[in-house]
Amino acid sequence: MKALVLSGGAGTRLRPITHTSAKQLVPVANKPVLFYGLEAIADAGITDVGIVVGDTAEEIREAVGDGSRFGIQVTYIPQDAPQGLAHAVLISRDFLGDDDFVMYLGDNFIVGGITGLVDGFRDARPDAQILLTKVPDPRAFGVAELDEEGRVIGLEEKPEVPKSDLALVGVYLFTPAVHEAVRSIGPSRRGELEITHAIQWLIDQKHDVHSTTISGYWKDTGNVTDMLEVNRAVLETVDPCEDGTSDEVSEIIGRVRIETGAQVVRSRIVGPAIIGAGTVISDAYIGPYTSVSEGCRIEDSEIEYSIVLRGSSITGVRRIAASLIGRGVEVTPSPRSPAAHRLVLGDHSKVQISS
Ligand code: G1P
Repeated sequence: MKALVLSGGAGTRLRPITHTSAKQLVPVANKPVLFYGLEAIADAGITDVGIVVGDTAEEIREAVGDGSRFGIQVTYIPQDAPQGLAHAVLISRDFLGDDDFVMYLGDNFIVGGITGLVDGFRDARPDAQILLTKVPDPRAFGVAELDEEGRVIGLEEKPEVPKSDLALVGVYLFTPAVHEAVRSIGPSRRGELEITHAIQWLIDQKHDVHSTTISGYWKDTGNVTDMLEVNRAVLETVDPCEDGTSDEVSEIIGRVRIETGAQVVRSRIVGPAIIGAGTVISDAYIGPYTSVSEGCRIEDSEIEYSIVLRGSSITGVRRIAASLIGRGVEVTPSPRSPAAHRLVLGDHSKVQISS
């Protein structure tokens, strides 16, 4: 069995964070969301992994390399333009050969991995197996309609009027039957070859399509609240460690990971929290459910329930909460006079100011 991981796509929904970075590399608990997928694939015993890459190919290659650190061998498959998930399968035919495969969308996060799912598929071997989850707004997803016995009878891609609240999760299991399906469909309204339509084709041709419904799922729908929530859930499970240093007057309470070269000085950190490599925390309070990436500086400030990406600094500000702060950002207090908020915000930024 092989894996096909999709890491093209523009990532418009998490703007401004993805203006300059691949959406699959958005960190959850300081680790790119894509890495959780690759680890889940390796845990399921799959080592032969194709990664379909687009405009952000260089960034993905740099992050993943040959895959050896995950215990997998990676083959990169360039996709010239984001022409859809079924198109990605089409161009990966040589890599996939006649093997069964799991297709994994690199911006999806599945709590608990995919081992049980892959084992179940290996045993039952339907022509295709899809994963579903209940979501509050199915219009942003592929949506499945089930009959009374739970069989999939219809799939629609991002319907305006969804027939159910069951969204297609970005993990699909296929036998080689899918290759005829992806060759048989035409482009959708948004001009893409949709995997949803290929699976509908399989259903129409009386192929056996199974579904499993899961909970514990996240993807970048652009909703920062969701991202903070998935970050919170993962922080609950990280192993505490102190590879960096903290001085005697600092207090480190609960599940806290201080990565290599990080320094904590005259500060209080209440976990679960992660302080990334080389980050300096001084005279500060870091509250629960906070991930601070590498190379940041938090000084004379308080922050909790937030994500700070690499190379950012926060100085003299209290208190920041429920925030997502991008890379290389500087947050400082404004002078007392003139009393004014001074902002330099990138396109599509969102700011809430308490005044
Ligand atoms: C794609 C699929 C959609 C699925 C979603 C899951 O959407 O087309 O059916 O529900 O992934 O992540 P896209 O991310 O291309 O908008």
